[in-house]
Amino acid sequence: MSEVKFTINYEEFASPSEMLPEDQELVKTALEAQKGSYSPYSDFQVGAALRLANGIVVKGANQENIAYPSGLCAERSAMFWAGANYPDVAFDTLAIAGSDHGVLCESPASPCGACRQVMAEYQKKHKRPLKIILVGSKRIRKFHCVDDLLPFIFDSLTI
Ligand code: THU
Repeated sequence: MSEVKFTINYEEFASPSEMLPEDQELVKTALEAQKGSYSPYSDFQVGAALRLANGIVVKGANQENIAYPSGLCAERSAMFWAGANYPDVAFDTLAIAGSDHGVLCESPASPCGACRQVMAEYQKKHKRPLKIILVGSKRIRKFHCVDDLLPFIFDSLTI
């Protein structure tokens, strides 16, 4: 038996101004995308902005339903729309911003397991790392591939 430590890597920024210009733009779009949230049950507004490899940016927002499981997270709504409309275009970067009762969370909202699994699928489909930016008002986190958000991905080729 041996005990193994597993390290994940990410960058942390105190404000968008510390980020690359294209990432600042994506953060802004994720914040704007929150306007499309339909969240009467949770009052938690999530916006997502997905930049594709061809430069097109797709927006998503969480959509809730009185029959709870029928709703969908913001990031999956953006990824599925992109997957349906640009099936051959790889995903480059996905920014996600969550607000509780209209106030941006200080520490960024983190994607649920189902969304991480969907990110992993598109990363695998396009054979290209998908970068993820999680936006909070006090800190912003950037992950350089899905593996850092979902260690031991099912079907991982690297572990
Ligand atoms: N939600 C997202 O859209 N993305 C996340 O990363 C976390 C959670 C949504 C689901 C639900 O509509 C609301 O936020 C509260 O959980």
